[in-house]
Amino acid sequence: MPAGLKQKEVNLPTYEFDPKTNLKLRNWFVQEKRDLAFRKNRTPYSTWVSEIMLQQTRVAAMLPLYEKFIHRFPKPEDLAIAEEEEVFRYWQGLGYYSRAKNLLAGVQKLVNEFGGKFPKTLEEALSLPGVGPYTARAILSISYNLPFAVLDGNAKRVLSRLVLFKESGPKADPALQKIADSFLNLDFPGDHNEAVMELGARVCIPKPLCNECPLQNDCLAYQNGVQESIPEMEKKKKEILLNIRFYILKTKHGILLIRYPERRFFKTIYSLPFSFEGKNPYDSDPVLDWDLKPSDLGIKFKHTITHHKIQGFVSETELDTKSEKKLLENFYKIRPSIEIKYCNWKNLETEFPSSISKKIKQTLAKDGAVLPGLEN
Ligand code: ADE
Repeated sequence: MPAGLKQKEVNLPTYEFDPKTNLKLRNWFVQEKRDLAFRKNRTPYSTWVSEIMLQQTRVAAMLPLYEKFIHRFPKPEDLAIAEEEEVFRYWQGLGYYSRAKNLLAGVQKLVNEFGGKFPKTLEEALSLPGVGPYTARAILSISYNLPFAVLDGNAKRVLSRLVLFKESGPKADPALQKIADSFLNLDFPGDHNEAVMELGARVCIPKPLCNECPLQNDCLAYQNGVQESIPEMEKKKKEILLNIRFYILKTKHGILLIRYPERRFFKTIYSLPFSFEGKNPYDSDPVLDWDLKPSDLGIKFKHTITHHKIQGFVSETELDTKSEKKLLENFYKIRPSIEIKYCNWKNLETEFPSSISKKIKQTLAKDGAVLPGLEN
């Protein structure tokens, strides 16, 4: 058994860590931590924003957006009164807009029900929309130094290797949380959590740099020479190929955008109306079996959403008032929960805040197509 830990019982992931292991990690973090903008100001609100942005986005990509966001919305009270569209504009480049939507709803609840002061219990923190176990633990530990251990992908990899814990996937989370709780440095919970995640992001990476690791001598996976195969790779979700057609429907109010809360894609944002073509496992679009015959613009673009590899097509048509009314009636009949709004060609990217809108514009421009009515 290495100096760093003692396994108490076979099959039961309860571990005792040597406090020296904590100390080595903390010393490494104090010396090596990156000087990141979100580490300068650790209010619960700023930690909330940065931790949400860091989910599914790399540090380098989120930093400039984080700074602009905090500059525009410095306090929860500023964000709580913002329009969703503006918040989405500040989220552009981060993707996964449901995070921004939930953050806004959470901060509104914080201001309205907690007087803007982030609660100090896990239970109350978890009652805020968009605050899940990871975010709650990160905020409470980093901003209040409360003893909660976090578990993100990086932390899971570090801990699994440290104690040679082989399981992975959601089933393994309770055991890993227990390991994380036992490893937590109770004197510095916030620094400890950031140190574990930082180690996972920079040293204990999938192909680990063990010679640079402060915990090399404490790591069971390293000692057994199995660091590269722990944690076991989760089976990748099977790729789904989809053809999606987007419709530029020009009306006298502008280009029609729809939010479909119940569909598989773009639940939280407005998008151009779209339909699936060919074989697909999702809902078909009876309302787009219409008599309007939009013309195909002859462009194709590629896009990926999680494990969906999408080939995008674009059609356009002009709708007079009568056909627009009929179309909307049909839309509402089939999906009563939809919301609609209008945009113009210029603000399509901010109103349909997905890189798809940019791709459509760029692809059209490359083909040299100037569409009547879309010049501005
Ligand atoms: N990953 C997510 N949040 C982090 C943080 N606060 N420090 C280091 N890595 C992180």
